[in-house]
Amino acid sequence: MKDIHTEKILVLDFGSQYTQLIARRVREAKVYSEIMPYNTPLGKIKKFRPKGIILSGGPSSVYQKGAPLCSRKIFDLNIPILGICYGMQLMTHLFGGKVARAQKREYGKAELFIDNNTGILKGLGDGTVVWMSHGDKIDEMPEGFVAIGHTPNSPVAAMGNVRKGFYGLQFHPEVVHTPKGSEILHNFIFSICGCSPSWTMKSFLDYSLGNIRKAVGKKKVICALSGGVDSTVVATLVSRAVGGQLISIFVNNGLLRKGEVEKVLNLFSETLHLNLKYADAADIFLKKLDGVIDPEQKRKIIGREFIRVFEREAKKRSDVVFLAQGTLYPDVIESVSFKGPSATIKTHHNVGGLPTKMKFKLIEPLRELFKDEVRVLGKEMGIPDDILWRQPFPGPGLAVRILGEITEGRLNILREADAIVLEEIKAAGLYRDIWQSFAVLLPVKTVGVMGDERTYENVIALRAVTSMDGMTADWVKLPYELLGRLSNRIINEVKGVNRVVYDISSKPPSTIEWE
Ligand code: XMP
Repeated sequence: MKDIHTEKILVLDFGSQYTQLIARRVREAKVYSEIMPYNTPLGKIKKFRPKGIILSGGPSSVYQKGAPLCSRKIFDLNIPILGICYGMQLMTHLFGGKVARAQKREYGKAELFIDNNTGILKGLGDGTVVWMSHGDKIDEMPEGFVAIGHTPNSPVAAMGNVRKGFYGLQFHPEVVHTPKGSEILHNFIFSICGCSPSWTMKSFLDYSLGNIRKAVGKKKVICALSGGVDSTVVATLVSRAVGGQLISIFVNNGLLRKGEVEKVLNLFSETLHLNLKYADAADIFLKKLDGVIDPEQKRKIIGREFIRVFEREAKKRSDVVFLAQGTLYPDVIESVSFKGPSATIKTHHNVGGLPTKMKFKLIEPLRELFKDEVRVLGKEMGIPDDILWRQPFPGPGLAVRILGEITEGRLNILREADAIVLEEIKAAGLYRDIWQSFAVLLPVKTVGVMGDERTYENVIALRAVTSMDGMTADWVKLPYELLGRLSNRIINEVKGVNRVVYDISSKPPSTIEWE
């Protein structure tokens, strides 16, 4: 089979918050790109056979003790190298130039004056706006380099050793605030490294189908379907590759949203034609959760029960060898910058995760993809948009949105309120722009008045946040009319609710879920 990964750009990560963005920009240009830590051994880099290397930015100063350095030998590999910000300073340092602290930290937009518009700055005319974020500057250029661009604050904002294909940029071409950033990166990827734009989702799909078939052979594969984007795309992909050899298991834990079970069953059986096994374990989960109010205890119980149900289903089929999982690229990048602190705060990612002792061989066909690429792949396979653009939903489901005790009655109140939130947010055209929007049922009752009657009922809290990855989040400034409509509808239509409040906390210091 043709390897579609023959033309690759390697991004070495020095800890910049933009490192992932660099790899994504390269992939958007239809060239495959991977991120590796700055100290990746030369042997591993050689084995990867990149057609070009990009050194990312980073928070350090090259002259600091312990500053991250890469092997000088990467410059002898005879491939073009682009250093961005810290990457440029490192290049300067390694080639005998001088880096010094700038008098003024430069942050934000700057006018780049182009002094030599060949190479990486080709086709950009006399100048363009660029995004700067640095405290160090190039004082003396390294040997073999010439300055090709400057800004009012940086005499060397772009430099190149044209003969060798080495370039340094003080600014960030990967961010949207550099309007011609893509053209600059394209110059590097296509003209300087000589890559061709051949990495498309169609080619990835064919490549992936071939790989799955080769790995699985005639054996059976099992997977857990949640109805979320990743598990849906994995199941559809594996099913395309090996058909009925894939058994998808959908567990109803009794903690799903209104109409969810019917929707998922219908989609998977009717539209996507998966070999689906439905395990209705709602009663078991609710019984185990009876009287439990501690959030971590809830998570533990749900995680444990999920594994039990799944194992029971798997044991019915002793011939299953593989487990397909929707692991994504950001989960596997071995890097210095993406280790988020939140994993230790709640035990999320164990819920819905399956134990290694189950002795399945893993297949993780999405482990090379970013989330937005997973959506493109899903679209390529005909998965409907309303699935591909679903907001994330936690494994423990409504259990972590019902504060206090979980009962059938309280689940129903939350389901009804949540359905109204979903409907109104969608009607307002905000669903895709919001990371998550949902209702939370609080463990307090408050006094109200309806008609001439005094009421003593439940409170619903509304939560809507924007986020890139769930690690940090900001509350959404929802329009007042929308908040008013949500409150009116929930209080009028959901029996047992007489008050609605809006959560205006960001993460950190709060979290997205209330439990
Ligand atoms: P927090 O509440 O920690 O949530 O700010 C961050 C993201 O993770 C989701 N979340 C979970 N997902 N099992 C999951 O599968 C969990 O136990 C869990 N807890 C939180 C949450 O919805 C948000 O997207």
